[in-house]
Amino acid sequence: MELTSQVTLSNVVVTIATVVLGRIAWQVISNLVFSPIPSNIPGPLIARITPKWISLVEMSGSRGRIVDALHKRYGPVVRLSPNELSFNSLPCIKTIYGAGSSCVKSPAYENFGKNGMFQTIDPEEHRRRQKRVAHVFAPVVLNQMEPLIQNCVDNLMRELKKRAGTEVDMLHWARMTVLDVGGELMLGKSFGALDGGGNAPSYVHHLDNAFAAFALYGLSPFAFRLLEYLPVQSLQDFLAAGEYVYRYGEDAMKDYLQRHGRQSDQKSLLTKMLAGDPSAGVEPLTDPQISIEVSNLIFAATDTTGNTITYALYQLACNPDWQDRLRQEIVGRSHGNSTDFSYQSLKDLPVLHGVFTETLRLHPAAPSALPRVTTGGGCQIGDLHVPGGTLVSMQALTLQRDPEYFSPDPDKFNPQRWISPRGELDPGSPEQREMMFVWGKGPRSCLGQHMATMECKISLARIVAHFEVRLAGEKTHEEMIMTDHFTLVPKGHRCSLVLTEV
Ligand code: HEM
Repeated sequence: MELTSQVTLSNVVVTIATVVLGRIAWQVISNLVFSPIPSNIPGPLIARITPKWISLVEMSGSRGRIVDALHKRYGPVVRLSPNELSFNSLPCIKTIYGAGSSCVKSPAYENFGKNGMFQTIDPEEHRRRQKRVAHVFAPVVLNQMEPLIQNCVDNLMRELKKRAGTEVDMLHWARMTVLDVGGELMLGKSFGALDGGGNAPSYVHHLDNAFAAFALYGLSPFAFRLLEYLPVQSLQDFLAAGEYVYRYGEDAMKDYLQRHGRQSDQKSLLTKMLAGDPSAGVEPLTDPQISIEVSNLIFAATDTTGNTITYALYQLACNPDWQDRLRQEIVGRSHGNSTDFSYQSLKDLPVLHGVFTETLRLHPAAPSALPRVTTGGGCQIGDLHVPGGTLVSMQALTLQRDPEYFSPDPDKFNPQRWISPRGELDPGSPEQREMMFVWGKGPRSCLGQHMATMECKISLARIVAHFEVRLAGEKTHEEMIMTDHFTLVPKGHRCSLVLTEV
């Protein structure tokens, strides 16, 4: 009897193992033999066998670097999984991302929090939604917001002055600044993040956890739902981080409506979004839609802009000659008004523009894939017919360091690339501008680029005019190694600098 049950148990184990191994073997064979992607497309063998490989690379934070290395090894088209290709040549940008492209955002975007404009996949639905948001980012509207930005940078300068001559975590201070700007502009009230004496408000922890929680959900919604049943408070807080961020947005908006009503002359992007754009016949979104959009905008604005300011200061600390040139440009302006930090007076300064653009080139805030999927029967991308339903992407990290367009030394920080021989601002050749992928391309490109540029140029000019910026030591290089989890993440999650008043 006992023997029978043992035999039965081992039979069960063997049967399960056979089924599982058989399934894996079938999956591998079907990936290798039946992949719709032509078999002559180069790439690592593991990428032909399983899509799990690129998911693991992504989770490790090294997708951008590894895909870049694959392009250097295999050329302009690389296979990343049985159903995924990466491209890196200029003409493919328009095909994949340009207006009228038949490629749409991949379903992965639906895991990035609640469904708003950024997450919308259907191009027509996106166009309708974008129309009702985009008007708040018009330069004329943003110019009215400048005093709010300057005010937050005043607070940043106050905090940096208190810490002059000592080591500061510049990443923290830059993030707190753009978070406060985001609060003022998007929710109608600051987070007070720069008043926290170096401590981030709890909102920031939720914001950080929300990204990781969205990634976990994207990887396995089933595992995410299962974890929700575990009675561990810290785990539940982590899983609910996204919910918290959206609830905060909802409450802030209710509070705003109570204080100011629906029509007011308050200076904020929220006011504009609530009003719609009557002159262009654009109705406002509903309140629940607006509250999702404003929270999504804070997601979109914080790490991207905070990292850009931080990497610019890091590069200036590494390149003291450029730091000196920038300081001279700002404090020695011909009209002699070195305290004029208005955006109007800064926006076209050639060295400032060169430093900013070169930072965007080397340290793009979304360095790796902006994934799209081909639709219908597929499309022609470069020399290749790509079947429908294939994941396709390009990445800023590779495009913006292409030696054909950014020579000499594409990996070197050289703001001179954006300054003409006569010392004027140089926007770059049409090809260079096309290869600059930092804001994305086409109808899904960044709506906040003028706002981000304003924040970055004002902050950099004011910091460099007042402080000499130095590395706190060799450790700063280690901290600033680039990793990516869709957005750029400095490996050490901090940037140790010393700012001394000049
Ligand atoms: C240096 C700062 C920033 C960089 C480098 C950056 C980069 C990007 C990129 C690459 C995309 C395209 C994503 C894709 O195609 O998958 C994007 C989209 C977007 N960004 Fe930014 N961003 C920055 C700051 C901001 C700010 C400050 C805001 C607004 C407050 C913002 C709002 C948006 C929105 C709304 C979209 C989605 C547009 C759409 O789908 O229609 N971004 N951004």
